[in-house]
Amino acid sequence: MDKIKTIIEPFKIKMVEPIKHTTEEYRRAVLKKAGYNLFNVKAEDVLIDLLTDSGTAAMSSGQWAAIMDGDESYAGARSFFQFEEAVKKITGLKNIIPTHQGRAAEKILFSIVGGKGKTIISNTHFDTTRANVEFSGARAVDLVIEEGKSPSKIHPFKGNMDLKLLEKTINEIGPTNIPLVIVTVTNNAGGGQPVSMENLRETKKICKKYGIPMYLDACRFAENAYFIKKREKGYENKSPFEISKEMFSYCDGATMSAKKDGLVNIGGFLALNDDDLTQKARTLLILTEGFSTYGGLAGRDLAAIAKGLEEVVEEDYLQYRIRSIEYVGEKLTALDIPIILPTGGHAIFVDAEAMLSHIPKNQYPAQALACELYAVGGIRGVEIGSAMMDRDPETKENRPAKMELVRLAIPRRVYTQSHMDYVVEILDIVNRQKKNICGLKMIYEAPVLRHFTARYEQV
Ligand code: F0G
Repeated sequence: MDKIKTIIEPFKIKMVEPIKHTTEEYRRAVLKKAGYNLFNVKAEDVLIDLLTDSGTAAMSSGQWAAIMDGDESYAGARSFFQFEEAVKKITGLKNIIPTHQGRAAEKILFSIVGGKGKTIISNTHFDTTRANVEFSGARAVDLVIEEGKSPSKIHPFKGNMDLKLLEKTINEIGPTNIPLVIVTVTNNAGGGQPVSMENLRETKKICKKYGIPMYLDACRFAENAYFIKKREKGYENKSPFEISKEMFSYCDGATMSAKKDGLVNIGGFLALNDDDLTQKARTLLILTEGFSTYGGLAGRDLAAIAKGLEEVVEEDYLQYRIRSIEYVGEKLTALDIPIILPTGGHAIFVDAEAMLSHIPKNQYPAQALACELYAVGGIRGVEIGSAMMDRDPETKENRPAKMELVRLAIPRRVYTQSHMDYVVEILDIVNRQKKNICGLKMIYEAPVLRHFTARYEQV
């Protein structure tokens, strides 16, 4: 019998949300008014919104049913225990603290373990993680492998930690100044690239040798698990759930934005084995987020996360998810559009520096490209480059990014294959008329996380 090759969306659509076409002229006016920052554009003025895969998932009928069944009791709600059980089932971690999203977990964690003189090591800190580390007074150091810094180098696990450099750095800084090592799976800022099980195991070994706890930034743990299944020897016959459990078995704690692989629109958690740290974290939680059994979320949100965590490790779902990104990547590569290869788990990263070689790095080529995609096709992506890298908190100098990327993040279970075909066509058009794109000058910036509110002028 012939093997069936077409991978379909493993769901049917029960409810639709209209999206609106506008004209290029209209969108160019919108851009100008928005200071060439797509965060300032109203969502209604966007046709295909690839700004983020965070909090933008379509929930399942099962999750909506769980929402209706949510228990809104202030303390000890049934929904909390469902949530706690679901998180424990996957992570195996002892103490589960709900937060309203990932950065709230980061804020609590780094307020306790961070501070002046401390260094946090990661493969690559995501921008909110870096900002929370630095806000505490600590330093954030990224030690991803060399291949992870090069858009076109092929490597199955470009998110891996550089183990030699990790040990060297620990020796240089001194283990007592390193409160924890946090591995981001998948490595968002580095292109949504996975981390191998072997690398997690070895990172843990080094951490253990020096008495440093290892954490996971687990936002996209299920996508990472699927890559391990597909690419790492010995895991082909394991389920994504089993692989996820093994990934978490190496860590002492985790922060998670459930807005990604929790398949929900809001929520997150901090999970810890250390009881003393948990005590401190719960105190801070009550100050800023809420009581320890809801942490800034409604009971219904907790119920939806519990269901989402079950659904996200289903193999059919992950196969469709990872394939839909790869599909776009293959089409763009055939059109000679430079992207990070191999494609990662949640987004396409266009290499704007390679594509717009006529725009110098200090004129934000990735920001300029993101704006042009919006002008030509109503597509909203996001710059992951020198604007996002911000200034050095000590020297206040601009920190040039290693890569100038436009991220087109694909929301989970939201867009169909024809939406993706449209995105490919727009990129092709923009690429063919790229000489018309000009650079940008930043004319306003906030002191932290400047890319959210920066304003630009065309050069
Ligand atoms: N860590 C990673 C790797 C992330 O990608 C994000 C969010 C966070 C932490 C923070 O979680 O948003 O729930 O507070 N990333 C989103 C994105 C914003 O678009 O990639 P949050």
